[in-house]
Amino acid sequence: MNTLIIYDSVFGNTEKIARVMGDALSETGPVEVLHVSKVNSDSLIGRDVLLVGSPTRAFQPTKGIKQFFKHIPGGGLKGMKVGAFDTRASLVDINSRFLDFMVKLFGYAAEPIDTLLVKKGGERLLQPAGFFVKDSEGPLKEGEAERAAEWVNQGK
Ligand SMILES: Cc1cc2nc3c(=O)[nH]c(=O)nc-3n(C[C@H](O)[C@H](O)[C@H](O)COP(=O)(O)O)c2cc1C
Repeated sequence: MNTLIIYDSVFGNTEKIARVMGDALSETGPVEVLHVSKVNSDSLIGRDVLLVGSPTRAFQPTKGIKQFFKHIPGGGLKGMKVGAFDTRASLVDINSRFLDFMVKLFGYAAEPIDTLLVKKGGERLLQPAGFFVKDSEGPLKEGEAERAAEWVNQGK
């Protein structure tokens, strides 16, 4: 199994999660963990599995992740197994009714990433997943790195 994990990250939390996933998958074959700015047209060649992760920013993936999908042609992910993940703030910590309401309406980054991965021809290997940071910039909440490893282990 040849895996590519593409991530974007502003404060480093999503990168940490991506690297934990990479380590957890290393026994399954080659794994590359790439910042989205380093992805080029050759990056997807020969991959069996593609995981894409982003911080949730204003209920969405980052611009970088959205741009990445714009460059993938229709059917470009055919034959690849895919999974989407994000990092997000914990609503319990923020305790805002307004934010609860907005999140119910607009959600998090992992779901739109999952939709794009499948729209481009990928076969969903893992259900979209979100990992919590403390406050708005992190660090990761306790146990989230372990949960990220468990998440990818389900796809082995
Ligand atoms: C400008 C800004 C907007 C954010 N918007 C959201 C949001 O809509 N929903 C959410 O759960 N967290 C939101 N967050 C928290 C981010 O998800 C958090 O900073 C991110 O998970 C950290 O990942 P990173 O270290 O990889 O950048 C926001 C943070 C910032 C700074």
